[in-house]
Order: sequence, then structure tokens, then C-alpha cells
Amino acid sequence: MNTTTRWFLILGAAVAVGLVGVCLVAICVIPGIVIPGLTGYPTGPGAGTFTSNGQRIYFTATSARGTPITASGGSAGMGMMGRLACATCHGADGRGGPVRMMMYSVDVPDIRHQTLTSEDPAGMEHAPYTDETIKQAITQGVEPNGQSLDPFMPRWSMSEQDLNDLLAFLKTL
Ligand code: HEC
Repeated sequence: MNTTTRWFLILGAAVAVGLVGVCLVAICVIPGIVIPGLTGYPTGPGAGTFTSNGQRIYFTATSARGTPITASGGSAGMGMMGRLACATCHGADGRGGPVRMMMYSVDVPDIRHQTLTSEDPAGMEHAPYTDETIKQAITQGVEPNGQSLDPFMPRWSMSEQDLNDLLAFLKTL
């Protein structure tokens, strides 16, 4: 075997090892980032393109203004879900429903504006919301009657403008 042939063999082997590596990454890593139950929702920073800043906040918890949006509170196991956005729990359509997270299964409410503000919201034990009390629920985790929301609902910190954008988006659901 001359030197050239040997080099070709070494190069071939290196390429083969590289290809196997790429396949392993594709097989192991890519499915690993698909969280069961979340497929279909474009969540995560920068995911998808949005028609409004409110929609972007709803789906990614990031603002087109670049102003910070942070969540605090929430239950154990949430960290495992990566970055959370409203859509993660309340669904792409805002109608909520059961959400499974780790060992929990939580019934997440419908937060479409029309449902929250209606006089006789089906299955709700609190007074109808106003724009102001919806903002309080989002930022302080309180219902219109002053009762605390379940800690599973994060307490959100965002600029007043971002909050208004988000509220405007809830009105379109
Ligand atoms: C980790 C899951 C989770 C995320 C993320 C989340 N929520 Fe919630 N949210 C809940 C749960 C659970 C409740 C019900 C709490 C209760 O009934 O005490 C709730 C309640 C609410 C309520 C009050 C509804 C009512 O009927 O009283 C509003 C408004 C709300 N969420 C808005 C939002 C918005 C806006 C975002 C994004 C900025 C968001 N939530 C993100 C889980 C979540």
C-alpha cells in the first residue's frame, strides 16, 4: 500500500466516523428537545414570526421592544420545561385545558378576553375580570376578588407597554 492509498483510507475512516456522529446527534438530540404535549405550539425565544408584539409575548415570553419579560414562582419541575410562555400552558388558542408537567396535571383556565370578562363565565368561581384585573392576575397572581391564583401560574414581570400589547392580543383570541 503506498502512502497516497493509506491517506485515502484514513480520510475515508474520518468521514465515516463524522457521519456516524452526525446521525447520533440527529437521533438522540433532536427528539430530546421535543417536549411531549407541547408539539404544535411555537414556544421558545424567537420561535416563528408574529403579527403583533402581543402575539410574540404570548408565544415566546420575549418582547419585540427588547424589554425584559421574566416569570417568578411556579411549581417544581417547571425549570425542566425550559422557557415558559403563556401558550405553553394556556394553549395556542388561549382556551387552556389540562396540562401535564412532570408529575402534575393541572387544569389551566381559558384566558380569552371574552371569557375572562363575561358576566357568567362557565366554570369560573370569580367575578368577571376587567382589563385592570387581568393585568393584576398576570403580574401579581390575584383574582378580581383578591384571592391568590395557584402558584402554578407564574407571576410575570414586564413593561406596561408589553402588558398592554399582551392584553390586546388576548382580545383577538
Ligand atoms: C406554567 C403554566 C402557566 C403559564 C406559563 C401561564 N399560566 Fe396563566 N395560569 C395558569 C394556571 C394553572 C392558572 C389557574 C390558577 C388558579 O386557578 O388558581 C392560570 C391563571 C391565569 C389567569 C387567571 C384566569 C382566571 O380564570 O382566573 C390569567 C389571566 C392568566 N393565567 C394569564 C396568563 C398569561 C397572560 C400568561 C403569559 C404571560 C400565563 N398566564 C402563563 C398556568 C400558567
